[in-house]
Amino acid sequence: MELKEAISKRVSIRYYENREVEEEKVNALIEAAIRAPTASGLENWFFVIYKSEQARKRIHEIMFESHIEYYQARGLPEEKVKKLKSKILENGMYKAPVYIGVFIERGIGVLKDSKYTQLEFIWAIESAAGAIENLMLKAVELGLGTCYIGVTSLDKYQKELREMAGLEDNWYLVGVIPVGYPTERISPRARRKSLDTIMRVV
Ligand SMILES: Cc1cc2nc3c(=O)[nH]c(=O)nc-3n(C[C@H](O)[C@H](O)[C@H](O)COP(=O)(O)O)c2cc1C
Repeated sequence: MELKEAISKRVSIRYYENREVEEEKVNALIEAAIRAPTASGLENWFFVIYKSEQARKRIHEIMFESHIEYYQARGLPEEKVKKLKSKILENGMYKAPVYIGVFIERGIGVLKDSKYTQLEFIWAIESAAGAIENLMLKAVELGLGTCYIGVTSLDKYQKELREMAGLEDNWYLVGVIPVGYPTERISPRARRKSLDTIMRVV
């Protein structure tokens, strides 16, 4: 598949078939992810494949709880929140055969002075985000759907998702990516901002 096709076909997919994703495909996603640029060459990233029934069940509940908290914090009217609840609980929104948790290790860096610690943490997040984009583009090529989930990084879920993966407190969850064969067909979502408002040539 041409890169331009993968880029233009990548959309956030939130409904998936109840069908397992082949192990080779999951591995291919991670192989693609780690080709991303990585700050200071540190490869500070760790991918957790949540695929047991028990893990998936709990993650789907977390999807529900964290999205409701997010939309209530945004001030979404109660009747819309109700609709969302039914989409997640009854229609199976965000229910995937596999979830990939992308973690980085805190406190990892090459710069000696502590004044750089925060910057190196941000660089690790940026590197992981680049890896996530690679993973999502590879998924398009493999006929898979993905969605970058940020709300599962709320503090309380950070801890739980870390513990489920047997990771210590020094790991930070950048995002969770549900992966599966799409049951929805979505055209690329329009971008509201035109180039002249988001770029400047100097
Ligand atoms: C950092 C980040 C966090 C996101 N978190 C969520 C999320 O928690 N739940 C969700 O449904 N989508 C999430 N998204 C997906 C965006 O909603 C989506 O990319 C945006 O609406 C544009 O749609 P598109 O990806 O189909 O082009 C997130 C995207 C990014 C980059």
